[in-house]
Amino acid sequence: MYCTHMRGSTAYMCAMLRMYEKNTMNNGGNKMANEQEIRQEMCEIGRRVYERGMVAANDGNFSVKLNNNEFLCTPTGVSKGFMTPEHICRIDAEGRLLEANGDFKPSSEMKMHLRVYKERPDVQAVVHAHPPYATTFAAAGIPLEKPVLSEAILTLGKVPVARYGTPSTREVPDAVAEYLPYYDAMLLANHGALTYGDSLMNAYHKMESVEFYARILYQTHMLGGARELSSEQVGDIYEIRRKSGMTGKHPALFFDKISGIK
Ligand code: 13P
Repeated sequence: MYCTHMRGSTAYMCAMLRMYEKNTMNNGGNKMANEQEIRQEMCEIGRRVYERGMVAANDGNFSVKLNNNEFLCTPTGVSKGFMTPEHICRIDAEGRLLEANGDFKPSSEMKMHLRVYKERPDVQAVVHAHPPYATTFAAAGIPLEKPVLSEAILTLGKVPVARYGTPSTREVPDAVAEYLPYYDAMLLANHGALTYGDSLMNAYHKMESVEFYARILYQTHMLGGARELSSEQVGDIYEIRRKSGMTGKHPALFFDKISGIK
């Protein structure tokens, strides 16, 4: 049980945090599921990503860690909105194919995914998508860092922009590596967004949160600018995060000041 020592004014935030964890960890966690269930869940997440417009055409990819040397991943060049479990491929930690049906081949971005698993042993699933608002910020090279939404501050903190790398090359994993120890979400310059977590649902929910945050930042900018929370208000939320038992990394755990984006 966490948040037991927080002030009364933080009760809502604590309740929200518990709800978030319930939704992201217990629903769809891959520790209890067998491989077939995981494949089905990957198809379900594919439909959500596609139907919510977080990718166009065949874009996006995701993966799930089965054990230290086996990973399930989406196939390259296939719409994530129409996948069936047979489309899913299995690879090892070096990216070598272990199993695929027919002509399906693993996503071209698996070097990036495998780097996440390598640097972050706590991660069980990785999601890469091109949600339009987040990708707009990525294309403009602007990190998501204005403190305007309590939920975004709590769950994401800030979302940095990893430098551009040619898709499918080593440049991409090398670019994301510097942020992996501190963040669970990042924008990929001129490309899209990357999220990861201790279950596929958790990683996917972070992608939703990133897109929602980017959209609100964009829309408030159109209205002349958001009213930002004060450093004290942000500090209170960071304190909740520090004292919570929430999994994953958050910049509040590493940087004292809201301005301290790496
Ligand atoms: P894949 O179809 O190879 O997964 O690539 C899609 C994509 O979005 C690349 O960034």
